[in-house]
Amino acid sequence: MAQIIDGKTISQQVRQEVKEGVAQWVKGGGVIPGLATVLVGDDPASQVYVKNKNKATVEAGMHSRHIPLPVTTSESQLLELIDNLNRDSSIHGILVQLPLPSQIKSSKILEAIDPKKDVDGFHPINVGRLVSGDATLMPCTPLGVMRLIKETGMDLRGKNAVIVGRSNIVGKPMALLLLQANATVTICHSHTKDLQQKVKEADVVVAAIGKPNFVKGDWIKTGAVIIDVGINRLPNGKLVGDVDFEAASREAAWITPVPGGVGPVTIAMLLNNTLLATKNISH
Ligand code: GUN
Repeated sequence: MAQIIDGKTISQQVRQEVKEGVAQWVKGGGVIPGLATVLVGDDPASQVYVKNKNKATVEAGMHSRHIPLPVTTSESQLLELIDNLNRDSSIHGILVQLPLPSQIKSSKILEAIDPKKDVDGFHPINVGRLVSGDATLMPCTPLGVMRLIKETGMDLRGKNAVIVGRSNIVGKPMALLLLQANATVTICHSHTKDLQQKVKEADVVVAAIGKPNFVKGDWIKTGAVIIDVGINRLPNGKLVGDVDFEAASREAAWITPVPGGVGPVTIAMLLNNTLLATKNISH
Protein backbone atom coordinates (compact mmCIF):
# COMPACT_ATOMS: atom_id res chain seq x y z
CA MET A 1 0.00 0.00 0.00
CA ALA A 2 1.40 3.38 -1.04
CA GLN A 3 2.35 6.04 1.47
CA ILE A 4 0.49 9.31 1.05
CA ILE A 5 2.52 12.40 0.19
CA ASP A 6 0.80 14.98 2.37
CA GLY A 7 0.70 18.18 0.34
CA LYS A 8 -1.09 20.10 3.08
CA THR A 9 1.62 19.51 5.67
CA ILE A 10 4.42 20.19 3.20
CA SER A 11 2.74 23.40 2.04
CA GLN A 12 2.43 24.55 5.66
CA GLN A 13 6.17 24.01 6.11
CA VAL A 14 7.02 25.97 2.95
CA ARG A 15 4.57 28.74 3.84
CA GLN A 16 6.10 29.01 7.30
CA GLU A 17 9.57 29.28 5.73
CA VAL A 18 8.35 32.01 3.36
CA LYS A 19 6.65 33.83 6.23
CA GLU A 20 9.92 33.83 8.18
CA GLY A 21 11.76 34.93 5.04
CA VAL A 22 9.38 37.83 4.57
CA ALA A 23 9.66 38.87 8.25
CA GLN A 24 13.45 38.82 8.04
CA TRP A 25 13.43 40.77 4.77
CA VAL A 26 11.12 43.46 6.15
CA LYS A 27 13.08 43.63 9.43
CA GLY A 28 16.19 44.31 7.36
CA GLY A 29 14.49 47.31 5.77
CA GLY A 30 13.06 45.55 2.74
CA VAL A 31 9.75 46.58 1.23
CA ILE A 32 6.68 44.44 2.00
CA PRO A 33 6.28 42.06 -0.95
CA GLY A 34 3.12 42.69 -2.97
CA LEU A 35 1.29 40.24 -5.22
CA ALA A 36 -1.39 41.30 -7.70
CA THR A 37 -3.81 38.68 -8.98
CA VAL A 38 -5.99 39.30 -12.00
CA LEU A 39 -9.05 37.20 -12.78
CA VAL A 40 -11.01 37.83 -15.95
CA GLY A 41 -14.52 36.39 -15.82
CA ASP A 42 -16.34 34.47 -13.12
CA ASP A 43 -15.35 30.83 -13.51
CA PRO A 44 -16.11 29.38 -10.04
CA ALA A 45 -13.06 27.10 -9.91
CA SER A 46 -10.70 29.96 -10.89
CA GLN A 47 -12.36 32.17 -8.27
CA VAL A 48 -11.58 29.59 -5.58
CA TYR A 49 -7.95 29.21 -6.74
CA VAL A 50 -7.36 32.96 -6.76
CA LYS A 51 -9.07 33.45 -3.39
CA ASN A 52 -6.81 30.78 -1.87
CA LYS A 53 -3.75 32.49 -3.36
CA ASN A 54 -4.75 35.86 -1.87
CA LYS A 55 -5.44 34.40 1.55
CA ALA A 56 -2.10 32.61 1.63
CA THR A 57 -0.29 35.77 0.50
CA VAL A 58 -1.69 37.78 3.41
CA GLU A 59 -0.96 34.98 5.88
CA ALA A 60 2.69 35.03 4.78
CA GLY A 61 2.91 38.70 5.74
CA MET A 62 2.73 39.98 2.18
CA HIS A 63 0.44 42.48 0.57
CA SER A 64 -2.23 41.12 -1.76
CA ARG A 65 -4.21 42.99 -4.37
CA HIS A 66 -6.94 41.23 -6.29
CA ILE A 67 -8.30 42.71 -9.50
CA PRO A 68 -11.47 41.00 -10.80
CA LEU A 69 -12.46 41.95 -14.34
CA PRO A 70 -15.64 41.25 -16.33
CA VAL A 71 -15.60 38.41 -18.87
CA THR A 72 -16.08 41.03 -21.62
CA THR A 73 -12.71 42.71 -20.86
CA SER A 74 -10.77 43.48 -24.04
CA GLU A 75 -7.14 42.60 -24.69
CA SER A 76 -6.13 46.27 -24.73
CA GLN A 77 -7.87 46.91 -21.40
CA LEU A 78 -6.00 44.03 -19.82
CA LEU A 79 -2.72 45.18 -21.38
CA GLU A 80 -3.28 48.62 -19.88
CA LEU A 81 -3.81 47.10 -16.43
CA ILE A 82 -0.62 45.02 -16.79
CA ASP A 83 1.27 48.17 -17.77
CA ASN A 84 0.06 49.91 -14.61
CA LEU A 85 0.99 46.94 -12.43
CA ASN A 86 4.44 46.78 -14.07
CA ARG A 87 5.05 50.37 -12.99
CA ASP A 88 3.52 50.02 -9.52
CA SER A 89 6.39 49.93 -7.00
CA SER A 90 4.20 48.29 -4.32
CA ILE A 91 3.62 45.28 -6.61
CA HIS A 92 6.41 42.70 -7.06
CA GLY A 93 4.46 39.79 -8.47
CA ILE A 94 1.74 39.73 -11.13
CA LEU A 95 -0.43 36.67 -11.67
CA VAL A 96 -3.02 36.61 -14.42
CA GLN A 97 -5.19 33.56 -13.81
CA LEU A 98 -5.53 31.29 -16.85
CA PRO A 99 -7.45 30.41 -18.94
CA LEU A 100 -8.46 33.80 -20.35
CA PRO A 101 -11.63 34.40 -22.39
CA SER A 102 -11.26 33.78 -26.13
CA GLN A 103 -11.08 37.46 -27.17
CA ILE A 104 -7.80 37.79 -25.24
CA LYS A 105 -4.65 36.14 -26.58
CA SER A 106 -2.93 34.78 -23.49
CA SER A 107 0.57 34.83 -25.06
CA LYS A 108 0.18 38.56 -25.66
CA ILE A 109 -0.70 39.12 -22.00
CA LEU A 110 2.03 36.89 -20.60
CA GLU A 111 4.62 38.67 -22.77
CA ALA A 112 3.47 42.04 -21.41
CA ILE A 113 4.20 41.15 -17.78
CA ASP A 114 7.55 42.47 -16.55
CA PRO A 115 9.73 39.31 -16.44
CA LYS A 116 10.96 40.43 -13.00
CA LYS A 117 7.34 40.33 -11.72
CA ASP A 118 6.43 37.13 -13.54
CA VAL A 119 5.77 34.93 -10.49
CA ASP A 120 4.15 32.28 -12.72
CA GLY A 121 7.33 31.90 -14.76
CA PHE A 122 5.34 32.02 -18.00
CA HIS A 123 7.09 34.95 -19.75
CA PRO A 124 9.14 33.76 -22.77
CA ILE A 125 12.30 35.17 -21.15
CA ASN A 126 11.75 33.12 -18.03
CA VAL A 127 10.78 30.06 -20.07
CA GLY A 128 14.04 30.48 -22.01
CA ARG A 129 16.00 30.76 -18.78
CA LEU A 130 14.33 27.60 -17.50
CA VAL A 131 15.39 25.76 -20.67
CA SER A 132 18.97 26.99 -20.15
CA GLY A 133 18.88 26.01 -16.50
CA ASP A 134 19.44 29.46 -15.04
CA ALA A 135 15.95 30.63 -14.14
CA THR A 136 14.86 32.29 -10.90
CA LEU A 137 11.11 32.49 -11.43
CA MET A 138 9.81 29.09 -12.48
CA PRO A 139 6.23 27.79 -12.83
CA CYS A 140 4.67 27.08 -9.44
CA THR A 141 3.02 23.71 -10.08
CA PRO A 142 6.16 21.98 -11.41
CA LEU A 143 8.15 23.49 -8.51
CA GLY A 144 5.54 22.10 -6.14
CA VAL A 145 5.80 18.68 -7.75
CA MET A 146 9.59 18.70 -7.27
CA ARG A 147 9.07 19.56 -3.59
CA LEU A 148 6.63 16.65 -3.21
CA ILE A 149 9.03 14.21 -4.87
CA LYS A 150 11.79 15.42 -2.54
CA GLU A 151 9.60 14.41 0.38
CA THR A 152 9.69 10.75 -0.73
CA GLY A 153 13.49 10.74 -0.51
CA MET A 154 13.76 9.43 -4.07
CA ASP A 155 16.99 10.33 -5.85
CA LEU A 156 15.86 11.23 -9.39
CA ARG A 157 19.25 10.62 -11.00
CA GLY A 158 18.82 8.13 -13.85
CA LYS A 159 15.20 7.39 -12.94
CA ASN A 160 12.48 7.13 -15.59
CA ALA A 161 10.09 10.03 -15.22
CA VAL A 162 6.94 9.95 -17.33
CA ILE A 163 4.80 13.06 -17.63
CA VAL A 164 1.31 12.64 -19.02
CA GLY A 165 0.27 16.00 -20.48
CA ARG A 166 2.27 18.63 -22.35
CA SER A 167 0.77 21.98 -21.30
CA ASN A 168 2.86 25.13 -21.00
CA ILE A 169 1.73 25.46 -17.37
CA VAL A 170 2.66 21.97 -16.18
CA GLY A 171 3.87 19.31 -18.65
CA LYS A 172 6.61 21.20 -20.49
CA PRO A 173 8.21 23.02 -17.53
CA MET A 174 7.87 19.82 -15.47
CA ALA A 175 9.99 17.99 -18.03
CA LEU A 176 12.72 20.63 -17.74
CA LEU A 177 12.85 20.48 -13.93
CA LEU A 178 12.99 16.68 -13.94
CA LEU A 179 15.69 16.79 -16.61
CA GLN A 180 17.66 19.22 -14.47
CA ALA A 181 17.43 16.68 -11.65
CA ASN A 182 19.01 14.13 -14.04
CA ALA A 183 15.92 11.99 -14.59
CA THR A 184 15.29 10.37 -17.98
CA VAL A 185 12.17 12.19 -19.07
CA THR A 186 9.33 11.12 -21.36
CA ILE A 187 6.45 13.46 -22.17
CA CYS A 188 3.28 11.65 -23.22
CA HIS A 189 0.15 13.20 -24.70
CA SER A 190 -3.03 12.42 -26.64
CA HIS A 191 -1.09 11.16 -29.67
CA THR A 192 1.28 8.92 -27.72
CA LYS A 193 1.30 5.28 -28.79
CA ASP A 194 1.35 2.61 -26.08
CA LEU A 195 0.82 5.11 -23.27
CA GLN A 196 0.11 2.35 -20.80
CA GLN A 197 3.45 0.72 -21.57
CA LYS A 198 5.31 4.02 -21.15
CA VAL A 199 3.70 4.60 -17.75
CA LYS A 200 4.54 1.02 -16.75
CA GLU A 201 8.26 1.83 -17.11
CA ALA A 202 8.04 4.96 -14.99
CA ASP A 203 9.70 5.29 -11.58
CA VAL A 204 7.92 8.64 -11.32
CA VAL A 205 4.61 9.51 -12.97
CA VAL A 206 3.35 13.09 -13.17
CA ALA A 207 -0.25 13.07 -14.37
CA ALA A 208 -1.47 16.40 -15.77
CA ILE A 209 -4.08 15.60 -18.38
CA GLY A 210 -7.26 16.95 -16.84
CA LYS A 211 -9.29 13.75 -17.24
CA PRO A 212 -10.75 12.07 -14.15
CA ASN A 213 -9.18 8.73 -13.21
CA PHE A 214 -7.43 8.53 -16.60
CA VAL A 215 -4.32 6.68 -15.36
CA LYS A 216 -5.31 3.18 -14.24
CA GLY A 217 -3.91 1.23 -11.32
CA ASP A 218 -2.57 -1.64 -13.43
CA TRP A 219 -0.48 0.79 -15.53
CA ILE A 220 1.65 1.59 -12.48
CA LYS A 221 5.06 0.03 -11.88
CA THR A 222 5.35 -1.51 -8.42
CA GLY A 223 7.10 0.94 -6.10
CA ALA A 224 6.62 4.02 -8.30
CA VAL A 225 6.07 7.60 -7.10
CA ILE A 226 2.77 9.01 -8.41
CA ILE A 227 2.13 12.74 -8.52
CA ASP A 228 -1.40 13.67 -9.53
CA VAL A 229 -1.76 17.24 -10.78
CA GLY A 230 -5.39 16.81 -11.95
CA ILE A 231 -8.33 18.48 -10.26
CA ASN A 232 -11.56 17.21 -11.82
CA ARG A 233 -15.06 17.67 -10.47
CA LEU A 234 -17.33 14.68 -11.09
CA PRO A 235 -21.06 15.17 -11.78
CA ASN A 236 -21.73 14.12 -8.16
CA GLY A 237 -19.57 17.04 -6.97
CA LYS A 238 -16.62 14.90 -5.83
CA LEU A 239 -13.09 16.15 -6.65
CA VAL A 240 -10.81 13.54 -8.18
CA GLY A 241 -7.40 13.57 -9.84
CA ASP A 242 -6.17 12.19 -13.16
CA VAL A 243 -5.11 8.93 -11.51
CA ASP A 244 -7.35 6.15 -10.21
CA PHE A 245 -6.17 6.71 -6.64
CA GLU A 246 -7.50 3.53 -5.00
CA ALA A 247 -6.09 1.16 -7.60
CA ALA A 248 -2.80 3.03 -8.05
CA SER A 249 -2.24 3.04 -4.27
CA ARG A 250 -2.00 -0.74 -4.35
CA GLU A 251 1.02 -0.60 -6.71
CA ALA A 252 2.81 2.66 -5.94
CA ALA A 253 5.24 3.33 -3.09
CA TRP A 254 4.12 6.97 -2.80
CA ILE A 255 1.11 8.84 -4.11
CA THR A 256 -0.41 12.30 -3.78
CA PRO A 257 -4.10 12.65 -2.89
CA VAL A 258 -6.57 14.97 -4.64
CA PRO A 259 -7.41 17.29 -3.00
CA GLY A 260 -4.54 17.87 -0.56
CA GLY A 261 -1.61 16.98 -2.81
CA VAL A 262 -0.20 19.25 -5.49
CA GLY A 263 -2.69 22.13 -5.06
CA PRO A 264 -1.59 23.45 -1.65
CA VAL A 265 2.10 23.15 -2.54
CA THR A 266 1.58 25.11 -5.77
CA ILE A 267 0.31 28.04 -3.70
CA ALA A 268 3.27 27.80 -1.34
CA MET A 269 5.63 28.01 -4.34
CA LEU A 270 3.81 31.10 -5.59
CA LEU A 271 4.50 32.79 -2.25
CA ASN A 272 8.15 31.82 -2.47
CA ASN A 273 8.33 33.21 -6.02
CA THR A 274 6.79 36.47 -4.82
CA LEU A 275 9.45 36.85 -2.14
CA LEU A 276 12.19 35.99 -4.67
CA ALA A 277 10.79 38.55 -7.14
CA THR A 278 10.68 41.22 -4.44
CA LYS A 279 14.31 40.64 -3.50
CA ASN A 280 15.42 40.67 -7.16
CA ILE A 281 13.57 43.89 -7.91
CA SER A 282 14.90 45.63 -4.81
CA HIS A 283 18.54 44.88 -5.57
N1 GUN B 1 -4.45 28.25 -14.18
C1 GUN B 1 -4.19 26.99 -13.78
N2 GUN B 1 -2.99 26.92 -13.18
C2 GUN B 1 -2.48 28.17 -13.21
C3 GUN B 1 -1.26 28.75 -12.74
O1 GUN B 1 -0.39 28.09 -12.18
N3 GUN B 1 -1.12 30.08 -12.94
C4 GUN B 1 -2.07 30.82 -13.57
N4 GUN B 1 -1.82 32.10 -13.73
N5 GUN B 1 -3.19 30.32 -14.02
C5 GUN B 1 -3.39 29.01 -13.84
